[in-house]
Amino acid sequence: MRQVLVLNGPNLGRLGVREPEVYGSATFEDLAGECRAVARKLGLRADVRQTDDETELLRWVHEAADGRIPVVLNPAAFTHYSYALRDALAMRTAPLVEVHLSNPAGRESFRHNSVIAGVADGTIAGFGLMSYRLALEAIGELVGPGEPGGAWKAGEPAGAGEAAGAGEAAGAGEAGESGGMGQPGGAGELREPGGAGFR
Ligand code: DQA
Repeated sequence: MRQVLVLNGPNLGRLGVREPEVYGSATFEDLAGECRAVARKLGLRADVRQTDDETELLRWVHEAADGRIPVVLNPAAFTHYSYALRDALAMRTAPLVEVHLSNPAGRESFRHNSVIAGVADGTIAGFGLMSYRLALEAIGELVGPGEPGGAWKAGEPAGAGEAAGAGEAAGAGEAGESGGMGQPGGAGELREPGGAGFR
């Protein structure tokens, strides 16, 4: 089964107790279990990891590049300032989707800039756990059937059609100023791959 790395940066291991009004009540274990279940339905095997350590995160990104492994990444605070992480991700050899639980664009100004977005295939933000589900679905579309990495080439997403480079799906506009994830803990059932609205 094709592997996908779901990488999470600092403080995301504290989900559940960390600012629940922003990040919801789901724990990191909940998130990891959800990702594994969603991935399985997509024919993927999600390897879900979290670290507070930039060096460790860089090692995982290098591992993904060497193995042509697609990545779903929540860089957490590194999003906003880690050029080292960006440079590591620029070496990627398979699709990369940046995710955020909250909608950083609706929060403090220091969160408005992502140094990662420019090297990702796309960004999904503001949907809580659903951000991860959508990101995994995007990865499934981008890699398509075949070997690790699929037919994907940097700058030429394979098999993604209009979905490729769709940019930021920062859908929490109606949530107002909070920038939170709308429905803490995420909501709704996973849409089946290829379901309505994806093509
Ligand atoms: C976050 C948003 C970042 O601004 C913040 O530093 C995080 C979490 C999110 O998932 O909403 O740690 O990446």
